[in-house]
Amino acid sequence: MTIERLSSRPEVTITDAETVHVIFVDANGNRSAVDAIDGQSVMHAAVSNLVRGVVGECGGDLSCATCHVFVEEAWIPLFDAAGSDELDMLEATSEEPTDFSRLSCQLRLDHSHDGLVVHLPKTQR
Ligand code: FES
Repeated sequence: MTIERLSSRPEVTITDAETVHVIFVDANGNRSAVDAIDGQSVMHAAVSNLVRGVVGECGGDLSCATCHVFVEEAWIPLFDAAGSDELDMLEATSEEPTDFSRLSCQLRLDHSHDGLVVHLPKTQR
């Protein structure tokens, strides 16, 4: 079945098979459920669906750290480990990083991430 997206990117058509559901939880506990696309980064899924709390200022070039998220612990092993460039940039986040911190532009979604929950920091700047 083909579903036309009703979002900020109406030109994109995705199928159920390509959908990865992601839940963003802001610092106040408010949840935003997003239909992301297989292959998309978590940052792009947030920004293209107007999720507040992820800026993505550099567009994913790993040079801004405004896409900082806290991945729920159970999901962490399902992503590749952070590389040295990401670890360096995590030292530049606005909110203090934790063991669960990642830069969401470096988190590439696939179907193993369906139902992913990430928490957002209070601030990105
Ligand atoms: S979007 Fe800039 S570092 Fe992730």
